[in-house]
Amino acid sequence: MKFFLDTAVVDEIREGVSYGLVDGVTTNPSLIAKSGRDFREVIAEICTLVDGPISAEVVSTDAEGMLSEGRALAKIHDNIVVKVPMIAEGLKATRRFAAEGIKTNVTLIFSPSQALLAAKAGASFVSPFVGRLDDISHVGMGLVEEILDIFGNYDIDAEVIVASIRNPLHVVDAARMGAHIGTMPLGVMKQLMRHPLTDIGLQQFLKDWESVPKR
Ligand code: G3P
Repeated sequence: MKFFLDTAVVDEIREGVSYGLVDGVTTNPSLIAKSGRDFREVIAEICTLVDGPISAEVVSTDAEGMLSEGRALAKIHDNIVVKVPMIAEGLKATRRFAAEGIKTNVTLIFSPSQALLAAKAGASFVSPFVGRLDDISHVGMGLVEEILDIFGNYDIDAEVIVASIRNPLHVVDAARMGAHIGTMPLGVMKQLMRHPLTDIGLQQFLKDWESVPKR
């Protein structure tokens, strides 16, 4: 399973990279706004930090607008993946991007039918938002399971990015289901490393080591 960081904050990306855990990065307009930086500039910098797919989202809501924004984004670096919203115009744009060899990540997916349509349009990645479904009392990971079932039935190549991850259990469930990618905040990536028994055990080892005679 690949791990992506869901952030546009370069210090967080540097930290994730230092653990050797970052296979790619996803951003969205809210995350770019949070970074407080110029969109193209921060995306270009992220491309220098991570050698993997870097999702940069369009903000147009018509296919022509998405195409012109996406083509410009794709010129920033070969690793750019154009993130497109799961609306009818987004599907039109996705098909044209695919014909031009530009990778897309169809985002804001909340149903299996949306994921199927995105894949049929030629998306390289589809992003079901699990945390936002959990927030409204739907089981987000249930959606991932359904998408993986459907994609498996037809050997669909599109990779499933489990997005809107809020906790380590989302990641573990995604891995058990065989999801290709989980995109997560740095905090969740760090939570995945920790276990209180590891800390207690290490403390004990270090304490006992003090009583070992040293030459
Ligand atoms: O990148 C999209 C997605 O991961 C957003 O997550 O926490 O805003 O629902 P969240």
